[in-house]
Amino acid sequence: MREQLEEIRSRALAELGAGATEAQIENVRVRVLGRTGELTEIMRRMREVPNEERPAIGRLINELKSEVENRIAALSEELKRAGMERSLGEARLDVTLPGMHIPRGWLHPVTLSRERMLDIFSEMGFEVVETQDVEDDFHNFGALNFPADHPAREMQDTFFLPGGLLLRTHTSNGQIRVMERRRPPLAIVCPGNCYRRDELSVRASPMFSQIEGFMVDRAGVITMGHLKGVLTEFLRAFFGADTGVRFRSSFFPFTEPSAEVDISCLLCHGAGCRVCKQSGWTEILGSGMIHPNVLRAVGYDPTEFSGFAFGMGVERTSLLKLGVDDLRLFFENDLRFLSQFRAASEAAS
Ligand code: DAH
Repeated sequence: MREQLEEIRSRALAELGAGATEAQIENVRVRVLGRTGELTEIMRRMREVPNEERPAIGRLINELKSEVENRIAALSEELKRAGMERSLGEARLDVTLPGMHIPRGWLHPVTLSRERMLDIFSEMGFEVVETQDVEDDFHNFGALNFPADHPAREMQDTFFLPGGLLLRTHTSNGQIRVMERRRPPLAIVCPGNCYRRDELSVRASPMFSQIEGFMVDRAGVITMGHLKGVLTEFLRAFFGADTGVRFRSSFFPFTEPSAEVDISCLLCHGAGCRVCKQSGWTEILGSGMIHPNVLRAVGYDPTEFSGFAFGMGVERTSLLKLGVDDLRLFFENDLRFLSQFRAASEAAS
């Protein structure tokens, strides 16, 4: 039996030489140490061994077992290390190479304009409040004193949603939403997206953004003079101190009296050109004193409170400011166009 053990040992160790592969190692492990392997077979035959020799043979078996186990462990470790070195050698990393350039983004020109506009209003004491894009008829039309048969309420102008809802056609819903839950004094600007069933074209888009503003206090405190002052101040801060500002009487269902506001043409400075159709002026926003029916709709008594409101298109206003002649440029995200506003974005942040 000793010879047999010696034979198992030398064969196993010969096979577990320095260059042994994973398969060879596994082979030896199963043949020598496995459940039906050579050592198990020997153990089974211990009965044949004379009593006095058993302890010595037993020790030999144990020694052989741990010798083979240790050898296998050492070889496996060696194989693992060699494998790792090989893969490290293949994917060599040169830390002296220049890093990958990850381009940094910048703000869209319309975002820049909107932030500038809101900043000017904030400096004048207005609070910025965002309200919802999905509205009901009451907050977009009814409470704003639109008559039942007003053309804006028709399918060709408004995106209607199931359940009596719609996508707001203007940010004037902000007046209603804010006044419903708060009491004057209020000086608020509401920026947000608006939706109308228009094709995307040089001057229109089915989605665009507006800023609505309003100021309400006890009746008689806020006058048309304040409306003129605030808007003139805003327009001169945004377009330049020498900008001409003109108020023209107009009509909106939610204001009385109403005024449209023009600025002197930025191209010809009032002399008259193709862009301003020789008038010297460009229309820029709508405004007026909030209609008593609007105040009633939000639960204010019009003899107790009054105020003014205004609304303007953000894309339209930026277009004039930046001298862009096609609204579609703002929505197409062509980097050749957008990259022109990179420096402005970095200066603003
Ligand atoms: N809601 C109007 C529009 O979408 C803009 C507007 C005009 C808002 C006059 C006002 C206002 O608050 O007083 O064209």
